[in-house]
Amino acid sequence: MKNLTVLSHPLLRVCVTALRDKTTPPAAFRRKLCEAAALMAADVTRDLPTKAVPVETPLAVARGHALKREVILVPVLRAGLAFLDPFLEIPPEAKVGFIGIKRDEETALPHVYSASLPASLAGHDAIVLDPMLATGGSAVEAIRLLRERKAASVRLVSLVAAPPGVRAVHRAHAAVPVFVAALDPKLNSRSYIVPGLGDAGDRAFRV
Ligand code: PRP
Ligand code: URA
Repeated sequence: MKNLTVLSHPLLRVCVTALRDKTTPPAAFRRKLCEAAALMAADVTRDLPTKAVPVETPLAVARGHALKREVILVPVLRAGLAFLDPFLEIPPEAKVGFIGIKRDEETALPHVYSASLPASLAGHDAIVLDPMLATGGSAVEAIRLLRERKAASVRLVSLVAAPPGVRAVHRAHAAVPVFVAALDPKLNSRSYIVPGLGDAGDRAFRV
C-alpha cells in the first residue's frame, strides 16, 4: 500500500496497547490518544513545504525558514477531537476546521452531518485527524470536502487502520498520504477493525 506509512516508535506501540485494552477507562483513553498524536505529529508534518526568510539574530541576519502555506487541522467528530490538542502544538498558529461524520450502524456508510470549514482552502496544507480508518468511507468523504475547497495538499492521520480503509482512500484520493500507528488485519461483519480497539468515539466520550 503505497499511500501508507506505519509509524514506529516504542512509546507509540505502548500507547496503542493501552488504547486496545478494553479496561482502559474514558479519561485514560483520551489521554493516551493525545499522547499517541503527540508522538505522531513530527513525522506527519515532516515534509510540509517551507520557504526561505531572513531572520535577525542579536548579531547578524541569518537564513531562516517559514511555512510556505497555511496549515489547517481538521478533526473528524467525534474521535478526531482527541487528536487535536497535540497537533495544535505543531504549528500553534494552524487553523482548525471541523467535520462531523457518523457511520450508519447497519450499512457502515458515512453520513456527513456538519462541516465547519473556510469556503476556500487554496494555499492550505490540510491534516485530517481521525483515529479509526475502517472501511475508509468517512475518510474518503472528509478528504473530498477538503479537495472540493481546493486544499493544496491533504494528509490523513489515524491511529489504527484496516487494509480496506487504506485501499479505499488510495482509490479515491491517490495523492493523500495516510499515517497510522498500527495496521490491523481485517474488519468484522459490522465493519469494526479487528483486533482494533472498539468504538473510539464511545470509548473517548461517554454519552
Ligand atoms: C468512527 C471513526 C471514524 C469512522 C471510521 O466514527 O471515528 O470516523 O468510524 O469508520 P469508516 O472508516 O468505516 O468510515 P463514527 O462514525 O463511529 O462516529 P463517532 O466518532 O461520532 O462515534
Ligand atoms: N469506528 C470505530 O470507532 N472503530 C472501528 O473499529 C471502526 C469504526
